[in-house]
Amino acid sequence: MTLRYRSPGVYFSPRTRTFTLMAKSSMYVMRVDDGRNLEHLYWGEALPMEDDLTYLSIGNTIIMFDPVGTLTVPKILGLDELDEISDIQGLTDRWKVYTKQKNDPERGSRPRRLENASWRLWTMERNKGGDLNRDLGTETLLSALGEEEAKDEGRFSEKEESKIKKIPTSPTDGHPVPRAATPPFSFLPGPKTAPTSPPVPVSPMGEHIFDHFPKSAGTLTALTQQEPESIIHVVPSEPHDMSRTFPSVRDFREIREHPRHPEESIVNWNVLDPTMAGKNSKLFEFADRGTGDYREPSIMVTYADGSTVSPFEYIQHKIEKGKPRTPEYFPNVRVEDVHEATTLTIDMMDPVTKLVVRLFYTVMHDYDIITRRIEVVNTAGQPVWLERLMSATVDFDSNKYYMTQLSGGWARERQIVTKELQDGLTTFNSCRGASSHQFNPFLVISVGAPFSETTGSVYGFNLIYSGNFLASAEVSESRRMRVNMGVNPVGFRWLLESGESFESPEIVLSYSSTGMGHLSRQLHRLYRNRLIPPRWRQKGCPILLNTWEAVYFKVNHEMVCEIARCCKNMGVELVVVDDGWFSQRNNEFSSLGDWYPNLEKFPFGLEGTVRALEEMGMAMGIWVEPEMVSVDSDLYREHSDWCLHVPERMRTMGRNQLVLDFSRKVVRDYIFEQLDAILGCANITYCKWDFNRHLTEIFTSQEDWPPERQGEIGHRFVVGVYEVFGRITTKYPDVLFESCSGGGGRFDPGMLYFTPQIWASDNTDAISRVYIQYGTSLAYPPRTFGSHVSTVPNHQTLRSTSMKTRSLVAMNGSFGYELDPRHLTDAEINECLGYVQLHQRFRDLVWNGDLFRLRNPFHNDTGAWMYVSEDQHEALVMAVNVRREVGRLEPRLLLQGLGPGKIYEIEELCPGKLVRNVGTGAIELDPNGVYQFGRTLKLSGHSLMVAGLPIKFLFDADSVLFHLKLVSNYQ
Ligand code: DGJ
Repeated sequence: MTLRYRSPGVYFSPRTRTFTLMAKSSMYVMRVDDGRNLEHLYWGEALPMEDDLTYLSIGNTIIMFDPVGTLTVPKILGLDELDEISDIQGLTDRWKVYTKQKNDPERGSRPRRLENASWRLWTMERNKGGDLNRDLGTETLLSALGEEEAKDEGRFSEKEESKIKKIPTSPTDGHPVPRAATPPFSFLPGPKTAPTSPPVPVSPMGEHIFDHFPKSAGTLTALTQQEPESIIHVVPSEPHDMSRTFPSVRDFREIREHPRHPEESIVNWNVLDPTMAGKNSKLFEFADRGTGDYREPSIMVTYADGSTVSPFEYIQHKIEKGKPRTPEYFPNVRVEDVHEATTLTIDMMDPVTKLVVRLFYTVMHDYDIITRRIEVVNTAGQPVWLERLMSATVDFDSNKYYMTQLSGGWARERQIVTKELQDGLTTFNSCRGASSHQFNPFLVISVGAPFSETTGSVYGFNLIYSGNFLASAEVSESRRMRVNMGVNPVGFRWLLESGESFESPEIVLSYSSTGMGHLSRQLHRLYRNRLIPPRWRQKGCPILLNTWEAVYFKVNHEMVCEIARCCKNMGVELVVVDDGWFSQRNNEFSSLGDWYPNLEKFPFGLEGTVRALEEMGMAMGIWVEPEMVSVDSDLYREHSDWCLHVPERMRTMGRNQLVLDFSRKVVRDYIFEQLDAILGCANITYCKWDFNRHLTEIFTSQEDWPPERQGEIGHRFVVGVYEVFGRITTKYPDVLFESCSGGGGRFDPGMLYFTPQIWASDNTDAISRVYIQYGTSLAYPPRTFGSHVSTVPNHQTLRSTSMKTRSLVAMNGSFGYELDPRHLTDAEINECLGYVQLHQRFRDLVWNGDLFRLRNPFHNDTGAWMYVSEDQHEALVMAVNVRREVGRLEPRLLLQGLGPGKIYEIEELCPGKLVRNVGTGAIELDPNGVYQFGRTLKLSGHSLMVAGLPIKFLFDADSVLFHLKLVSNYQ
């Protein structure tokens, strides 16, 4: 028998109440437990469709010294085979039959199981929702049934026999019995409904097809025979209410609404359910607060009465093709065709207040990626304060876990930090109003060891958000581990009036069973194809020169034209006029907010300079910092209340500027008009949107937002920024926007949704950039890195590196220059032109190929990586020696991602030209270049990946570049 795996989509089994989210080759499984919680079962590589994963619930709880959940119920074997009996008489009959049958060896163990189950149910019924911990021995049972009847167990009337024979039995192949869509069996008296529905079509796996599916049972059966998986594409048109398939305990809501005695509505009926015991260790999808799970919750609310207890119960779900619309301008993974994704929406409700949370899971069929987001809908009829809402909570089974984060600071962004998780909370976050240089909203969990590039299970979490976030991993006393990620609750308090709803940012969950490399590659592919604006998917950035490190604030028309004339010879296509072009801006102290050109510097306006550059065959870009205002500005003089501030309090300056209050429409509209005026006045084709300080005094005008809504301003600011980005990029779709925040302080998927590239760091030193870009590549594709060649000695580190190394490093991104070309010699201009041509030759491979990280500079003296084309016909290998240890040899570089049976020709590009004269010890120039191998190599992908490529470095910051081209295939 061959194992069968489901094709991508979302599957629901009413029999087990299990949702299986099938991604490309991995799956995510959860179920609705008997307490109507969403229990997490599994996330990992795909498992055979035959397997019922509810067995993973076994051992899912632990009962410790814990005031909650210490009541437990022994598992009632056979209970699930008795579900169609809805009255005590039927139960009595059944019990008698099984008692009789259980000693017949030919019938196997089934009658014994069923006898036990019917006896227990009978007893519970008799005890009215009874005390399951009571020892109900045979004596009790006998007296309960009445001596007579019990002894008479062998005598049945014909009528009774025939009734019993109609009870469905398990097929001999061991597959579970399909259940008809009948009301749940209740062992407490309740309305008795006879099973009336016609037989429900069943998949080969015993799972139900919803009876309200738009297709007929016949069609489904036919589909099943021809193509078993096709049944999964059937989508219910209406939300599926699972109350019909709910457990064999009396419905909790019914108990609440129609208590049969006063205490019934308030006792914790969950104790009847073994799955509810030990709630503090169970794996959940959505963790509530105040009912026995003491780990960090998914949600925190305060109700109008001041209470914070907020359990949520499953109400209904819906499975639909594609992805439902998200609010306008709210960044999220784009789904462009209904066939490329399936979305599961699950509604959960606080049964007392009626507050609803709606969980959205979108499975991307071509990736091992699921996106999640949450909407809270206030149907409570009263205001509710939302104090925490995680975009995802994922509970992991007990194990040894390592967490990797990307942290650093200004000019040192996204360094790779890995640590083993220990008991308690390990968190990182941003409280700065932006995703920040310090911590990136990206978290990786690796199992058993720090992540490897090529092996092991790795889980990635990436929040599509540019503001305050929280990422946490919590190891509880049972060694269960919970990851929570979402908007940072610090400073967040959202008033949800009745009828209002709140949307969390979306989060990307990715899985790889083959290490970090694969995880990164699928994120790269997703972000290139489904996150950045579609228009820029196939189109990269022109080769640009940015004036910042060339002349800083001293830009003017003449100078820009001169710079353009020089760098045109280097192959540059666009000049970006960075800071300093507007109003009185000559330094960091003034003019932000006054977005009109300084006519002394640009006497012909921006349009004049654009025209001059266009005449040279070049384009022009511009720098702006729309969210900021200088105190010394016309804008501030006129509207000093437009910045974030608390009246009467000091306004904290950062880089001598304040932050405009983008939570206010009036401010957003004003800034939009300013940007519109700049971009509308001339053919500006590129715009760098900077953001140079973080938020303080997060408070806003009472005109717009009353006191009770001040806890919303941090988030409203981010949403406001998205709105302006959305409006302006919609109006100017051909303008390429690059975002920036003092370098890479807002390098996150939220920004990538609007801007296909982000200035990765204010540190342009090639060696520092190896670390920054290597770390950034864990989550983000190289084509999104703004990456420039700057002058030497470098302005941030005073380090000098060769033009070759600076160029190779800059080629791993959107290539450009950040230097004054007027100071370059002709030879240097020519050298630059050579690298520009190299970049042009390989940019498609770098931007769209698969990245394989070969050597981690954080652990080695060298950073190395390679790009492989999708068809494996071509590859580009790069290595940079970040720290030269004299006399140490570099280990061979084991390549990855090649076709093992393919033969590649290996060409070394731009070999170094400096060499030590072994006779004199002097450094000399070898105009022919110092090649690594001295001849062309032709080798199989297999040898290159297993034996590797020997490389050597001669000097500090030395680098190598190889191009591999397919020449033939082994048969
Ligand atoms: C910070 C950016 O990262 C730099 O590239 C430059 O644009 C300056 N701001 C300008 O003020």
